[in-house]
Amino acid sequence: MNSGFGLNSTKYVRILDTTLRDGEQTPGIALKPEDKLRIALALEELGVDSIEAGFPITSKGEFLAVKMIANEVRDAEVIALARSSKEDVNRVLDSGADAVHLFIATSDIHMKYKLSMNHEEVIEKAVESVDYAKSHGLIVEFSAEDSTRSRREFLVKVFQEVVNAGADRIDIADTVGVMTPQSMAELVRYVRNGVKGNYVLSVHCHNDFGMAVANSVTAVESGADQVHVTVLGVGERAGNAALEEVAAALTFLLGFRTNLRLELISSTAALVSELFDLSIQPNKPIVGINAFSHESGIHVHGILGNPLTYEPIDPSAIGMKRRIVLGKHSGKHAVAYMLKQLGLETNEEIVDEVLRRIKDLGDSGYRVDYEDFINIVKSVVGDLK
Ligand code: KIV
Ligand code: ZN
Repeated sequence: MNSGFGLNSTKYVRILDTTLRDGEQTPGIALKPEDKLRIALALEELGVDSIEAGFPITSKGEFLAVKMIANEVRDAEVIALARSSKEDVNRVLDSGADAVHLFIATSDIHMKYKLSMNHEEVIEKAVESVDYAKSHGLIVEFSAEDSTRSRREFLVKVFQEVVNAGADRIDIADTVGVMTPQSMAELVRYVRNGVKGNYVLSVHCHNDFGMAVANSVTAVESGADQVHVTVLGVGERAGNAALEEVAAALTFLLGFRTNLRLELISSTAALVSELFDLSIQPNKPIVGINAFSHESGIHVHGILGNPLTYEPIDPSAIGMKRRIVLGKHSGKHAVAYMLKQLGLETNEEIVDEVLRRIKDLGDSGYRVDYEDFINIVKSVVGDLK
């Protein structure tokens, strides 16, 4: 079997992680510069291509955090956010970041109600800032904010102008998460065909309708070279595309290549969960505690025969562990397996009795944990002596 269940593509996909910028914009979250540095170092080890470290103009601490990260990180590009203005770019330059992520909105609603600018003014600002950043030696990624609600022809015009001005990467931002996989695929192809030149095409997907991961993955299948992601999908409102889910889908379902050391995904997620003080929902794909846990008798029987019966991938590939959980849905195979793990000599009578007591507890609404199991085993073995 190849590494993917679908295509065996060899295309390399760039990963730009924005946990420390868009992720930190999660309502109510604020990280200390030292904590941002800890996460940045974990992301570097994980192997992301770019770490968006922050938005330096927003505060002294944010500037300091970007500076510390730019100073320490060696094996990933450090990028910082800036509006399309010289003042913002200067702050990025002072921080020592390798790259600037410039943005300006291109949708009618943003231009009218937020920027109070017309189409020509937006293009002028965008080009001027790209020009300025390039002439100061920065790598430039340009995002058209609210790309997906922008007029298509205008979006392509803006992208073409910034590419002509030297932007290295252009980014389609689904700022309010309104895309579906099909509309994203069409837009990516439209931009790719419309914008001429040498550039990396990126997408930045928000999760307002729960589509961010699907939209990001489809964008790559449709020709995008890079995805913006955050660990655990943290970010504004309902968040961004989750790094762990996008990476796993690109790798295991589609066979794309990334630079990620996937076995570090689980520990990176745990660190972000701790420092963001956000718990990981148990059924979260890939890194939730239940993602590789099994209780029902039929499933555990299958898993014990061959884990791929009820798991799409080996959990160790992303640093997770398989768990057999005991409860009212359990069967004999699970109990026999757990007893064997304890090194106990068992027989059918013991297995049946342990299982009966577990089911009785489960039926009364009780959640059986490992300690309960040990107590049950002790009492059963004692009683049956
Ligand atoms: O969602 C968004 O549009 C952004 C931009 C800054 C790219 O985060
Ligand atoms: Zn965003």
